[in-house]
This record gives sequence, C-alpha cells and structure tokens, in this order.
Amino acid sequence: MGSSIQLVFGAVPCHYTTTKSYFTRSSSYFSVKNYVKGKWDKDILCEQLKGPVDFQGCLRVQGRGAISRLYSVGKLNRRLETLSCKCQRTESVSQAIVEVGSGKSVNGMSEPSSLQSLEGPKLLNNEKTVITSDDEIAAASEMSDTLQGFGINSIEDEAWNLLRASIVYYCGNPIGTIAANDPSAANILNYDQIFIRDFIPSGMAFLLKGEYDIVRNFILHTLQLQSWEKTMDCHSPGQGLMPASFKVRTVPLDGDDSATEEVLDPDFGEAAIGRVAPVDSGLWWIILLRAYGKFSGDLSVQERVDVQTGIKMILKLCLADGFDMFPTLLVTDGSCMIDRRMGIHGHPLEIQALFYSALLCAREMLVPEEASADLIRALNNRLVALSFHIREYYWIDMRKLNEIYRYTTEEYSYDAVNKFNIYPDQIPPWLVEWMPTTGGYFIGNLQPAHMDFRFFSLGNLWSIISSLATTDQSHAILDLIEAKWEDIVANMPLKICYPALEGEEWQIITGYDPKNTPWSYHNAGAWPTLLWQLTVACIKMNRPEIAENAIKVAERRIARDKWPEYYDTKGARFIGKQARLFQTWSIAGYLVAKLLISNPKAAKKLINVEDSELVNALSNALSANPKKRPRRKLKQSYII
Ligand code: GLC
Repeated sequence: MGSSIQLVFGAVPCHYTTTKSYFTRSSSYFSVKNYVKGKWDKDILCEQLKGPVDFQGCLRVQGRGAISRLYSVGKLNRRLETLSCKCQRTESVSQAIVEVGSGKSVNGMSEPSSLQSLEGPKLLNNEKTVITSDDEIAAASEMSDTLQGFGINSIEDEAWNLLRASIVYYCGNPIGTIAANDPSAANILNYDQIFIRDFIPSGMAFLLKGEYDIVRNFILHTLQLQSWEKTMDCHSPGQGLMPASFKVRTVPLDGDDSATEEVLDPDFGEAAIGRVAPVDSGLWWIILLRAYGKFSGDLSVQERVDVQTGIKMILKLCLADGFDMFPTLLVTDGSCMIDRRMGIHGHPLEIQALFYSALLCAREMLVPEEASADLIRALNNRLVALSFHIREYYWIDMRKLNEIYRYTTEEYSYDAVNKFNIYPDQIPPWLVEWMPTTGGYFIGNLQPAHMDFRFFSLGNLWSIISSLATTDQSHAILDLIEAKWEDIVANMPLKICYPALEGEEWQIITGYDPKNTPWSYHNAGAWPTLLWQLTVACIKMNRPEIAENAIKVAERRIARDKWPEYYDTKGARFIGKQARLFQTWSIAGYLVAKLLISNPKAAKKLINVEDSELVNALSNALSANPKKRPRRKLKQSYII
C-alpha cells in the first residue's frame, strides 16, 4: 500500500546523531515521500539514514495496514544485498526450529546451545498423554535425588539447553524465546511466536545468569511494536497497547524475487483466538524493564527518551478516565494469562496485581520532569486507592467470610457495610468447607453484587511480590497454600485457579469451551510456569521451604514428561489434554525457581518493597474514617 509511510528508529542501540544526541520515538518519525508505485525505495531510505555513528540496529518501516517492517540496516549504508544475505542466514522461526530439532547448525549462526540433548527419543516421541503411576513418580523422584546427590544437575542442564534452543533471532540478535518447541504438535497455532508474558520467566532466567543482551533486545524491539496501526475490523486498539505476541517472518523483498527480508509481525489480539486484548503485556513489559536495570546495572535503557515515552503511553492507557467506579483496572474477559473466556471480565485480580506492580516499577523509573508531574500525581493517587480497595474488599478469610455470611443487603447510604450489595447466598458451598482456619486469600474478581470466590494463584502470588498484600495478608496466602497443598500443588505446582467451574456454570461461563473442561487448562489445570512466582513470593516472606517443596514435586516428573504446558485433573496427574510439550515458560519457570532458591538475594531485585508513604496515606485515609467513603478523600482529578 502506498499510503503514508513512516520510519521509526529502532530497537537496538539507537544513538543516531543528527541534531539531537539520539532519536526519540516522536522525533524519529518522518515521512518518506519518495516511494515508487506504492513501494519503498530502499536506496532513498538508506541514503536518508546515512550519518555518523554507531547505529547498528534495525530500521522499522511501517505502511498503513501493513505488518511492521524492520529492515536490517546493520550499518547505515548497508544495502539490499546485505538484507538478503542476512535473511538467508536467519530464515524463519519455523525453519530455525526444524534445524534445531535436526541438530544442524542454524543458518550459519552460532548454535544457540548444545543441541545434543534435543536429539533422539525426546523429540521423536509423539505420545501426548502420559499417565504416570505413583510408583513411577516415586522412582523418578528417587533417581532425581540420587543424581543431585552426586551433584549432577541433569534437569537444570536439560532445561538450559532447551531454553537456549527456544531463542529466536532477528537481524542476527537474540530477541526472545518461542512459546513452545513441541515437534509432536500437529497444529502449532501461534505457539511459534514470542509471547510477551511467556518471555518474562525466560528473561528473568537470562538476567539471573548474567546474559542481558536478549532481554535488552526484547525490551527495545517490543517497544517498537507498541500499538501503532493494527486494527481489527477498522477498529484500532488504544495507543500504548503492547502486543500479546510477535513473530519474526522472512518475506520476499519487494521488487526482488531472489531476496528476502525479516519483519516483525505483532499480534495485538486481532488474530488471537477469541480476539482477546493483551492487557497484561504492557504491565509485564514495565516489570521486566525494571528487572533489567536492577540486574544489569544498565539504567541507560530505562532512561532513553523512547523508553520513557513507552512507559508513559502504557500508563496513560491504564490511567485514562472511563465510566468505572473503582480504582481497579476494568478489562474484558481473557485479557491476561487466562486468555480465553473464563468469567474474568471486569476487575480480575491478576490484572490488578500486575497493574499495581507496574505502577510502582514505573514510578521508580520515570525521569522526574515538569511535563510528567500530573501523570505521576495520578499514578500515586491510583496506587493508594488501588491498594486500599484490594486489601479491603478482595480479602477473605474465616472472619471475613463469616461477616459476608451475615451481611445486610440493599443498603442505600454512603456508609454501607455491604458496599457492593453482595447477597450472602453467593458464598459457594465448596468455600464453606475449604476455607482454612488460618490463612486467607484475595478473591478472583469483584463487581457490583458479585464476588468471584475462586482462588487464582498468579494474582495472589503477585500481590505478595508487589506488596499489594499487607505482610499479614501475604503470610496468610502462604498459610493457605500450605494448608491446601493437595489442592493447589498436588502432583504438579501450581493450579492456575481453584476450584474448577463445572456443570451448568462451566457451560454458561466458558461457553461450553472444550479446552477448558473442569480441571483442565485454564479451568483449574496445573501450570508449572507458576513455580517461579511462588518462589519469589516465598523468598520475599522468608519462607523458601514452601517453594523448595513445590520444586521437588515438579522435579519428580517435569523433565520426564517433556516440560508440558499444563497438567489436568484435580490431582494434576495427567499431562494436559492439549498441552504443548517443551513449553518454554514451563522450562524457564523451573530454572528461575532453582536459580532463586540457590541465590535468594537475587529475588530482592524482583519484588516491590512496601512504600512507607503509601502506607501512611492509606492509614490516614482509613483512620480518618474507616467505613465512610475513603475514596472521596483520595480522589482528585488530574488531566493526563
Ligand atoms: C496460552 C496461554 C497463554 C500463553 C500462550 C502461549 O494461550 O493461555 O497464557 O501466553 O498459551 O504460551
């Protein structure tokens, strides 16, 4: 298409000096008028890019409705021959995987890992469902203990090999990891893409290992993809949205049949099953950006003007005024790790915990300047209101449950006790039995006259990690995990939520989703990737033994089962019906858990310490009037 064309300077070190010391995102936009019959004249483009400096990255070119194009311009005056040459080396992701699987060197590039471990039965075995008996589990566990007694970290070594083999390269640089590398899968769907949320544990593993480049590249390349012109049926997602995933594609070079180029093709949900909005992507991106700075000591990335702009765009999208009455972020169903209809539309806990964490991380990284003052004030207000709202209204334990059980309803007043008009009959029968005497948790969702009482692991763990939960609440969540070990950890950590939706409830809420049948996938399946979040939370609360026990449970079978994406059944005994094998975030989640247990101090770089100013603001609001409209006191309007 020959409509307006823009260039955006890129992702890898972007110090291209003209009048400024480097291009910012806004200043890097300029139109290329010289195009021929709707096609790029890349020579002109390259001419325009000539300049002094150490620009060694990629150049993103975007036409309306077209996929984002990142032309490799390694050196500024590099021409098409170089592009085609580069593309011959890198080819497509799928090709790279085939090569990796066959143990060949990948397009002449340095091999990502020792590929030996991927050869042989592991990759050739096509069986999908392995039912493991207790005896087999015990035998595997014994074997693993023996190996570790000899100092042989076979599982970890295998995990590292697999993680490295999942790396995706772009313009010769590592930029992310593929979601799954399962050679037995008949239909790869979008598992050959780099998912933002899936890369987080991979990124953390690389940071813990001191390998910073891949994380830096990932951060900067995804920044360039941040919602530009992607549309679904003429509608564009809000500016600032980060894609759910992206893919490196090798496409024929315009006007030259013999050459190819690499492009990055993001998916903002417009191709995703169900067209779900990836609200969590931007929040995870901010969290990873902060972790990168903490581990590498390189703050220059977060200080870059384009990165600062990226942070602000995400914040503006999240803090924009809408019709909502609550400080929690209002989202549609399936907008996070659970990216299918599961009744988590509204204000799901996972999004709130990530939102809170991202606000804290962003506050730490935003460069103070006059122009951001309103944004930072709005951010601070939201933090206070959000933590009050979640701590107060999402929390349940025996005491609170009993209070709800005795609620008066239909209270029309400013100081109603039952503010959300919850009818006590909503308390599900399972919960009456399930709630332990010590322990508690944040419920999954809160809306007018509706409490979703399911326990969601990620939201609760990230509430601990981000200090959204108070210290007492954090301990109580871990108490509950211990008390309900057989339900939440069972034979594979960790249930994504508990319990499953069954019967009519499953029919109505999931829309008869055959993938989310009870105790499968998002409907209370067990997801090994959650091990790393459990480990960070346990270390933060100085209770690492809980995580250690969970890791031991995982080690009994995770490698032997070929690193499945998820497990099914109430006891998590079967590999998931449609689970991918060699799922990268299962592998990385395990590695991060192991690395943190052996170096607990590193976990400090991943947590948010409770902010004393926030606590004071909160306790002032509460002591002023614990029941009467604390939000009124906190609420102020800021134009953002
Ligand atoms: C599934 C998961 C989602 C994940 C994706 C790629 O859709 O629900 O959380 O990001 O697979 O692994």
